[in-house]
Amino acid sequence: MLKITDLYAAYGKVEVLHGISLEVPKGKVVTLIGSNGAGKTTTMRAISGMLKPKSGSVTLDGRDVTGLPSHKIARAGLAHSPEGRRVFATMSVTDNLLLGAFPRFTRSRPRGDVAHDLEKAMELFPRLKERRQQLAGTLSGGEQQMLAMARAVMLNPEVVLLDEPSMGLAPILVEEVFRIIERLKQQGVTMLLVEQFAVAALNVADYGYVLENGRISVHGSAESLRRDPAVKAAYLGGSH
Ligand SMILES: Nc1ncnc2c1ncn2[C@@H]1O[C@H](COP(=O)(O)OP(=O)(O)O)[C@@H](O)[C@H]1O
Ligand SMILES: [Mg+2]
Repeated sequence: MLKITDLYAAYGKVEVLHGISLEVPKGKVVTLIGSNGAGKTTTMRAISGMLKPKSGSVTLDGRDVTGLPSHKIARAGLAHSPEGRRVFATMSVTDNLLLGAFPRFTRSRPRGDVAHDLEKAMELFPRLKERRQQLAGTLSGGEQQMLAMARAVMLNPEVVLLDEPSMGLAPILVEEVFRIIERLKQQGVTMLLVEQFAVAALNVADYGYVLENGRISVHGSAESLRRDPAVKAAYLGGSH
């Protein structure tokens, strides 16, 4: 379980997170909803060590990982699929996935069966399977986003952070991304999901938090948030 308590974070002198607390229980999908600029990506970065929190704590299965460098937080079992699909462009799809499993080769994560998990990832992401030898930089934007997700899963992590996995994708790929998230959930993968498509996120999630200007304004079961009139008016409008 991932637990964040009273987390503050800033870029230089500009404080962006003003005391965030949230929990992602094992095997659950939790979504973080909020407008552009609310601080969702900053929350993900402060959790995964890309940004050092000013104060507060991040624990993973009871272990305090607050402020550790990101590679150490990854070894503790947290995988981050960051906003904006960061893949290694000059490496093949397969090598990108194996790199995601790197801490398992060095035994800083339990090794398990990497080859089996690689095949499992290929089955889950058929577009990657077809392109396994291709250089990641030659994939379409949607395929690169899937590769970033699949690479996160290859860590065999305790928790996966998915930051806007459907950003910039064609509608048919957005649907595919949500189908994959649903499948990962069925496999028992614990996830914290940030998505612009709040309705779809609340449909796959068990629980949700609403972030407004760096503070959690509302939280509750996904079902209760779907019905909450204020949440509906602010985030669930339109036809998503
Ligand atoms: N690298 C950065 N340097 C300075 N300010 C930033 C940086 N990244 C984000 N911000 C600011 O922090 C706030 C929260 O941004 P972000 O976490 O990206 O929001 P969200 O992901 O919810 O859209 C915004 O006001 C944004 O302008
Ligand atoms: Mg963001």
